[in-house]
Amino acid sequence: MKPWLYIPPKISHDLSPYVLKSLALFKPWPKELKSKKTLMSLDFFSPFGTAGGLDKTAESMHSWAKLGAGFIEIGTFTPKPQKANPGTVLLRSLKDQALWNAMGFPNAGFKNVIKKVEAYKKASNLKKLPPLFINVGKNRDTDLKKAHLDYVKGIHFFSKTADAFVINISSPNTKDLRLLHEKDRFIPFIEPILEASNSINKPAILKLSPDLEKSEFDTFIRLCTKLPIAGITLTNTTNQRSKNLYKTFPNHGGLSGTPLTSLACEKLQDARAILNEEGSKQSLISVGGVMTPAQANKRLKMGADLVQMYSGLIFYGPNLLKDSANFKSH
Ligand SMILES: Cc1cc2nc3c(=O)[nH]c(=O)nc-3n(C[C@H](O)[C@H](O)[C@H](O)COP(=O)(O)O)c2cc1C
Repeated sequence: MKPWLYIPPKISHDLSPYVLKSLALFKPWPKELKSKKTLMSLDFFSPFGTAGGLDKTAESMHSWAKLGAGFIEIGTFTPKPQKANPGTVLLRSLKDQALWNAMGFPNAGFKNVIKKVEAYKKASNLKKLPPLFINVGKNRDTDLKKAHLDYVKGIHFFSKTADAFVINISSPNTKDLRLLHEKDRFIPFIEPILEASNSINKPAILKLSPDLEKSEFDTFIRLCTKLPIAGITLTNTTNQRSKNLYKTFPNHGGLSGTPLTSLACEKLQDARAILNEEGSKQSLISVGGVMTPAQANKRLKMGADLVQMYSGLIFYGPNLLKDSANFKSH
């Protein structure tokens, strides 16, 4: 039974920390699974983890660890607190197995979030924790030319608490953010960020949009292979709308879940081919339309080093992480 699928999606989203706490309550602290993996100098409990945006309040790290996450991502966080965009920000379609969101990084800001992350780490004191990725973005009123300052601030702020940083330039819900995929804007943006993360020896992972055309995408990935980026996350939500959808979603905002599956697979395979060609050791993290344990494991075969889930955890349920790690193909 998945009662959260039968209440309005935004209410369900806001209640999720409580639901997760109750689901995790009697579960023991996880042992590292057999599928343990070391990447970017981090020990992953399994290759399957939670995606950005799932825990925007830093309240569910403990629950996700107990529910079998091999690694956990929190955020996107911005320097100053900010509210969600006005109007409807979350829709769901059971028939399409899809979520649509136009949230725009609602979060409590670095200063408030760090207290919760420190409390989580302290409470888990002697236990080994799944790696924690902290996803950083810019405030909506930060000028794009100064965007790097918000990310650098995030790296300094979370330097002791994050195991890796996700540099999010791919949300469709922060005006002009995706323009940072353009080479002339990207280089001056990313250089100070990589300098900051490399100076504290923490991996920086870049999270990309699925909506670049193939030639643009390939050029961008090739450019990334020349930079000291530890990993690339593919992909954020899409602003493309397939004709086969049952539900009509607004044109703005981003779509995730099943309508994103084939696009996310395509981007993963393109990127894997380029990284192999360039002899790059950068990690690839696949996310987008992973709805079943079989699909999660298929991403590894397609060339992903790690796999993340958001929509699948809503439609299949929170056991998707554990079931993916225990999955045996026949
Ligand atoms: C409601 C919602 C909020 C999201 N918020 C963020 C976010 O704050 N930062 C981010 O990097 N990605 C965010 N995402 C994108 C997810 O991390 C993921 O890239 C996308 O949903 C595709 O994966 P999925 O098909 O498994 O959902 C969000 C997705 C949804 C559905």
